[in-house]
Amino acid sequence: MNPAASPARTAAIVPAAGRGERLGPGAPKALRSIGDIPILVHAVRSLADCGRVGLVVVAAPPDGVAGVAELLAPFGATVRVVAGGSTRQHSVSLALDAVPEDVDVVLVHDAARALTPPDLVAAVADAVAAGHDAVIPVLPVADTIKAVDAASTVTGTVDRSTLRAVQTPQGFRRSLLAKAHATAGTPTDESAAATDDAGLVESLGSPVRVIPGHPEAFKVTTPFDLILAEAVWARRTAETKNTLDAKNDDAQNAAETKNTVETKNAAGTKNTVETDTRKTDA
Ligand code: C5P
Repeated sequence: MNPAASPARTAAIVPAAGRGERLGPGAPKALRSIGDIPILVHAVRSLADCGRVGLVVVAAPPDGVAGVAELLAPFGATVRVVAGGSTRQHSVSLALDAVPEDVDVVLVHDAARALTPPDLVAAVADAVAAGHDAVIPVLPVADTIKAVDAASTVTGTVDRSTLRAVQTPQGFRRSLLAKAHATAGTPTDESAAATDDAGLVESLGSPVRVIPGHPEAFKVTTPFDLILAEAVWARRTAETKNTLDAKNDDAQNAAETKNTVETKNAAGTKNTVETDTRKTDA
């Protein structure tokens, strides 16, 4: 947390109430692990470490609120857990209701984007603070994109230079996000709900600003994504260990140099004293 950045006025919402069925059988997606750390813990850590966020409100499966609260207890008062809804949009809306009145910037971040770099979170928060009321991180689209019909026939090729893949966190002036959700209502099934919050802001006719996203902010959706996430996490862990080892080596070298200098100084003083003594004797 960075007190200089008025963290109490920026909050983050993490919708984490989905089952994540595309990941295959097992625990809900947010509770699956990357490097033995639950996906949800990784996601909350990215937000808490960015230096901008004072409170994280997590929307958990309604039957799992107590378990998620226990999992996130080490974050203390930084994290609040509420029951999510039947769609992602509904979960965000319920979490937004739990954001204190004095918060004026809200970030919405999918738990599934577990390895999002804290610097990206900070960049989104800063862009909102700088005056853009809706901000989303995006990446260019690498693949060619085709439109197809129900009979699996291509109906057209979309100009990919105008397309962007959208990530989270998405950042909003709180009043705009609240208005967007109030206007959209609460659809009960995912096919009628928005897949992101910026879509609701667009429906109001309000501008949405894009900033560069980050490849490591990818969403863990399929078993392949989990393999990728494990590889990214292993690389980060190795880099952290190398940095710590290098610091320890530097500290040890500094201590050895200090000892050598002290030994030399002590020897020099002794020799000088002996020389002086001889001079006196003569
Ligand atoms: O399914 P998908 O990966 O698009 O979900 C995006 C995010 O929305 C996930 O973090 C998921 O847990 C969350 N979600 C939710 N409430 C639901 C459905 C999904 O919070 N009812």
